[in-house]
Amino acid sequence: MRVLGVHRRSIIAATDQRGIEVIDQRALPHALSILMLRTAGDVARAIREMLVRGAPLIGVVAAYGLCFAVREDASDAGIERTYRTLLATRPTAVNLRWALDKMREALLAVPSAERFDTGWRCAQALCDDDVATNFAIGKHGLTLLRSLFDRKSGSRLNVLTHCNAGWIATVDWGTALAPIYLAHDSGMPIHVWVDETRPRNQGALTAWELGQHGVQHTVVVDSAGGHLMQHGLVDMCIVGADRVTARGDVCNKIGTYLKALAARDNGVPFYVALPYPTIDWTVEDGIGSIPIEERDPSEVLSVYGAVDHADPTGPVPPGLTAVDPAGPVPPAQLATPTLRWGSVRPYPAATRAANYAFDVTPAKLITGFITERGITPASREGLRSLYPERVRAP
Ligand code: MRU
Repeated sequence: MRVLGVHRRSIIAATDQRGIEVIDQRALPHALSILMLRTAGDVARAIREMLVRGAPLIGVVAAYGLCFAVREDASDAGIERTYRTLLATRPTAVNLRWALDKMREALLAVPSAERFDTGWRCAQALCDDDVATNFAIGKHGLTLLRSLFDRKSGSRLNVLTHCNAGWIATVDWGTALAPIYLAHDSGMPIHVWVDETRPRNQGALTAWELGQHGVQHTVVVDSAGGHLMQHGLVDMCIVGADRVTARGDVCNKIGTYLKALAARDNGVPFYVALPYPTIDWTVEDGIGSIPIEERDPSEVLSVYGAVDHADPTGPVPPGLTAVDPAGPVPPAQLATPTLRWGSVRPYPAATRAANYAFDVTPAKLITGFITERGITPASREGLRSLYPERVRAP
């Protein structure tokens, strides 16, 4: 998608295969800080510390991590060790396991000497597949947006989204935002209510992306959605997903469930956009079976962001290399030179906090799924109708 009018993917693989360039999402929206990841250790750290985030992106970046590991140790045992390390970086999004499984299978199928090249090709293929998949989600979602818009006699369409399920959460296009970008590009007047998504404020990422692409949007606090829906200000909700169970329960960023409840109470259609690697066919009951990441309470107890000051230093973590890309957008063009990063602490020093990062929305609250294969009801039957190859013989 576009950054300062120039197309960019969220992962750029170095042509000499020495690493991948990723966007440090913690620096957004105030700086476009590009970092080079060269080792499995770099990748594990980038995922764990949320330099890269969003289920599909985590999966593809981890795939490169397993490939890099082969450069140091191409043995079966080495691959297994790095597989386990990368898998443990974040527990909830199933795309991570899906991508690592694909890579491990491809690597173990060839002799050690061929493993790096095979891994590189496989990771590149996962990247391209992610882009094509998300574009297809966008096309199918656009038909929904169009039919809603046609009923509005020309007034703008209002869509509410939660967290960031845009292009920087994937390799390109995004999942929930892909239909919105296509609608905007087709000339439809569309406006997005952007939930701020405390505590990591992924809403800031969504606002940044939409702004870069010229899509109208307004940020609201996480608790505003119900009010907006009661007043007819939301035509539709579209969110992403980190794991969808075989019967259609959806695990996504904390707060998604409450939006679905409000949508049901107000008759607002609530859709989940998901690519096929997000479906965990091994799990039925989302509430009982999906590991919910619990992050450091300090994220809840403080608010992190840019502080008005005179130090332009961005948060490049020690040990990782910042890249000054010859590529599309030099970071300096996006950096706001008078800002530095910092946090404020609104709570008393001794306050305890809990930081559940995801919740589960039961299938019954979801109007439908937007996938790369089309739109389907959020149910076991709905998913199986789109993915008949997953229906096991009795
Ligand atoms: O903790 P995050 O920022 O990785 O969580 C991301 C989300 O919950 C997204 O909504 C989800 O991964 C879908 S991304 C296309």
